[in-house]
Amino acid sequence: MSTKKPIRIGMIGTGLMGRIHSNGYNQVPHFFPEQQHTPVLQVVCSRNEASVKAFAEQWGYAAYETDWRAVIARDDVDAIDICTPNDTHAEIAIAAAEAGKMILCEKPLARTVAEGMRMVEAVEKAGVANTVWYNYRRVPAVTLAKQIVDSGKLGKIFHYRANFLQDWTINADLPQGGTALWRLDADAAGSGVTGDLLAHCIDTAMWLNGSIIDVSAMTETFVKERMHQLTGKVQPVGIDDACLFHCHFENGSLGLFEATRYARGHKALYTFEINGEHASIRWDLHDMNRMEYFDHTDESTVRGWRSILVTDGDQPYMNRWWIPGTSIGYEHTFTHQVADFMKSLDDGTPCAPTFRDALETQKVCEAVLKSARSRSWQDTGAEAMGG
Ligand SMILES: NC(=O)c1ccc[n+]([C@@H]2O[C@H](COP(=O)([O-])OP(=O)(O)OC[C@H]3O[C@@H](n4cnc5c(N)ncnc54)[C@H](O)[C@@H]3O)[C@@H](O)[C@H]2O)c1
Repeated sequence: MSTKKPIRIGMIGTGLMGRIHSNGYNQVPHFFPEQQHTPVLQVVCSRNEASVKAFAEQWGYAAYETDWRAVIARDDVDAIDICTPNDTHAEIAIAAAEAGKMILCEKPLARTVAEGMRMVEAVEKAGVANTVWYNYRRVPAVTLAKQIVDSGKLGKIFHYRANFLQDWTINADLPQGGTALWRLDADAAGSGVTGDLLAHCIDTAMWLNGSIIDVSAMTETFVKERMHQLTGKVQPVGIDDACLFHCHFENGSLGLFEATRYARGHKALYTFEINGEHASIRWDLHDMNRMEYFDHTDESTVRGWRSILVTDGDQPYMNRWWIPGTSIGYEHTFTHQVADFMKSLDDGTPCAPTFRDALETQKVCEAVLKSARSRSWQDTGAEAMGG
């Protein structure tokens, strides 16, 4: 008989993240077999019965529900996974914490700092394990970048710059709100590219380079009105279509960030670069298994940017996968997060980023939006993250 401790997952939402998380739960027992806690696909929930039933059958969930409250009320669920639009995160997370469930919540943690603080208070009061799916931390090349930065090899860090560029909302006839387009509706999303794209860049940046203390930002909404899918009415667009900001990190380095959904030709160009006194690192999601590294301490005649394929068994996570030289993809970052969450239960330690860590990103996002509105520098109040 298995001595494993099952963690019975109740997943809310069956869209993009519902599918990719389900894949992660299915993969972890195969690729991280030594872990004592192991995910079990117990219940899945979304509002349309026919589609949630089909989803449960396709992915192997034991049961389904059409109301998230019913999932939280079930005794056969240990952990709630929140894969729904941003306006639902706080209500679901707080109810789950009050019911004593562990919580894995999609990013951004919430729409606002105030909502996020209530969520942090709820999980900490209940003492339940919690994590937020800032999955790019678990790209092996990004984790390697973290190890190199922490080793001190870069020396004093001067610059951090990041971009997250897309082009899918340029069409002015695209409606806002409802299925698939809730990201364009400020009530559902909280913000536009700031909470959707820059939140990822900010989480990675603060993880790698420490806290962002103040920001100066500009945002633009290029298409001012769009038809709302739910009401059929043409309504003002409340989200930021593009956002640029610069900032100071606590360690004295300068940051430069840009996100937009209006960069024609770019689908999801997430890049970052860090420049230190002795070395620089850069990374690009489109070539995610590669890390570029420049080490000024190399012999001068052969000094140059190294292009490092991060697929060897001694590089982060890669001893779980295939053979050196063979790549892994986007979905593996979620599998890694499931595995790290299960390991944190084995070890009795937090799984970063926790709700409290993700609140720090929320503070920076809110300061960015406030700065753009007020055309002034804003302190973020953000503190150092764990993990
Ligand atoms: N970590 C990442 O890289 C990443 C990527 C994409 C999305 N996300 C985040 O994941 C979350 C979901 O995004 P998505 O792209 O999967 O969205 P989606 O639109 O593809 O799916 C949302 C799902 O939630 C369901 N839903 C909505 N309201 C519900 C309710 N009240 N009760 C039950 N089900 C409900 C919908 O039916 C749908 O199945 C968002 O918070 C988003 O920001 C994170």
